[in-house]
Formats: sequence, structure tokens, C-alpha cells
Amino acid sequence: MLKLGKEKDSVEYWENVGDAYTSALVGDYHGHRLGVIDALIPQSLYQPGSVIFDFGCGNAVHFEQFLKSGAVITGIDISDVMIGLAHENLTANKRDTSLAQLADVNAMKAIPTASQDAVLSFNVLAYLNNDEEKTFYQETQRILKPGGQLIVTHSNELFDMFSLNRYTLEFFKKNFLQGGDSIEKLLKNANLPEKYETYNVRENPLSYKHKLAAYGLSEIQQEFINKHNAPPALLNGKDYPDTLRVSAQEKWKLMFSCSTYGSRAVKIAAV
Ligand SMILES: C[S@@+](CC[C@H](N)C(=O)[O-])C[C@H]1O[C@@H](n2cnc3c(N)ncnc32)[C@H](O)[C@@H]1O
Repeated sequence: MLKLGKEKDSVEYWENVGDAYTSALVGDYHGHRLGVIDALIPQSLYQPGSVIFDFGCGNAVHFEQFLKSGAVITGIDISDVMIGLAHENLTANKRDTSLAQLADVNAMKAIPTASQDAVLSFNVLAYLNNDEEKTFYQETQRILKPGGQLIVTHSNELFDMFSLNRYTLEFFKKNFLQGGDSIEKLLKNANLPEKYETYNVRENPLSYKHKLAAYGLSEIQQEFINKHNAPPALLNGKDYPDTLRVSAQEKWKLMFSCSTYGSRAVKIAAV
């Protein structure tokens, strides 16, 4: 297996979950996720001449809808298991398997400047380390055409305020109570398990636009995925309520009650 110089868990993790992930691709969560992703992708990208790059393309689940329209889409992924699944899908649809390649974020450096109408990255950025993340945004900015779009999904940091568990306490500790020991006491008294795992990269839907602006990108749309009807600490069972047809007055609640969100931004400037 090609490791691409990445030592962290990510490659092995995706090798192991490859099969499970593919079976989840037919489940309710995936259906809901794809529906929200659809709402983020403008119809104008589905046409001959559109050029799209999919970072962390997985099994190429997003490819066929573009290829059918005459657009060109290429993608890379760090896991050879996922790229193997992508090649199976491309072959089944009589498409060229070279559209999906095994590579890490540094491969973006070989893509010509101002050549892409959109960069996609769905449920991937959470796994990047700081250097990879910086490369991703710098290269995205460089390879997008003027007016080109970055369309991504993120693990939602604001969801921690709603979860009513250890993550809530950690959220307050990180964002509001630096220097004080009150949260440490709370964490101790709450008798919570020591184990605390989270993603490397999470985003706050209220502040993400500022990160994007630093890379010459302007956020124009957000949509929310995986709404929890009750905080995880109280939740029994799970369903995937509609998050697209929510009234304007109620929409703010999604920002906290959804564990994932999607963002669409436009390239506005060179940086
Ligand atoms: C949750 S899957 C999403 C796959 C696909 N984007 C989708 O929407 O179904 C995450 C993917 O990110 C890939 N990945 C994780 N870390 C990566 C990295 N550092 N560089 C490139 N791909 C990565 C994994 O191999 C996996 O295929």
C-alpha cells in the first residue's frame, strides 16, 4: 500500500473503513447528506466545459452526475482502498479510471493556475493536519478560475454547544474561559470519561468566512447536515430530518443542532 509519506492514522483508517463506508453510502445519513450537497452545487457547474476538482474523492460518488452533464471532473484521495472503489465505479459507468488518482494534497501543486470552475471537498477537511490544510486552501485559491467556487462540508464546532456532553465543556473552555480553572473543576466533577477524541480540523459557521477571506474567497451559502432533534447526551435513536426546507425564522437553530455543515464560496481575489 502506498503511504504517500503520511504517518498518521488517516490512511490506515480509510483502508479499514472502506467497505463499511461504501455500505453506508446507501443509508439514510448518506441520502440526506447527498441531498444537502446537491443544494450547494449550482446547476451552472453541470455543463460541457465545466472543470471540477474533487479533493478526497473517496469512491468517486460525486463524479457521475458531472460526467453525465459533459463536465470534466478529476479527483484525488489518500487511500488506495477508496481509489480502488472509485475505479470500480468509474469502470462500471464506462469512464476513464485515471480521473481518480491516489495522491495527497501536494498533488494539487501540479494543477494549472486558474484552471478549475470548482473545487469540491466533502467530509474530508476534518482529517487534515495544519500544513495540509494550508496547502489545500492556498492551492484551491490558485487553481480556481476567477469566480470559481469552493464547495465543502465541515464538522460543525458550534454543535458542541448543543451536545450537552464533554464536548460542550471543552467548547466553553476553548472559546470563553481561557485562564480560569472553573471548567477544569466542572470536567472533574462531571465524572466524564477521560477519552476525548475530535477531528483535526473543525469549523465554526459563524467565523469560517474570515478564514476564507484570508485566502481570497467569499462565502455565499451555508447549508446544514445531520440535525439532531435532541442533544446527543439525551438522544434515543436517530433520524435525518429535512434541513433544507426550514423557515427563515427557525434556520438559526440548525447552526447549533447539526453536526455537519456545507459551505460554498467564490474566488474574489488573488492573495
Ligand atoms: C468521509 S470520506 C468522504 C469521501 C467523499 N468525499 C464523499 O463525499 O463520499 C473521507 C475521504 O477523505 C480521504 N482522506 C482523508 N484524509 C485525506 C488526506 N489527507 N488527503 C486526501 N484524502 C484524504 C479518505 O481516504 C476518504 O476517502
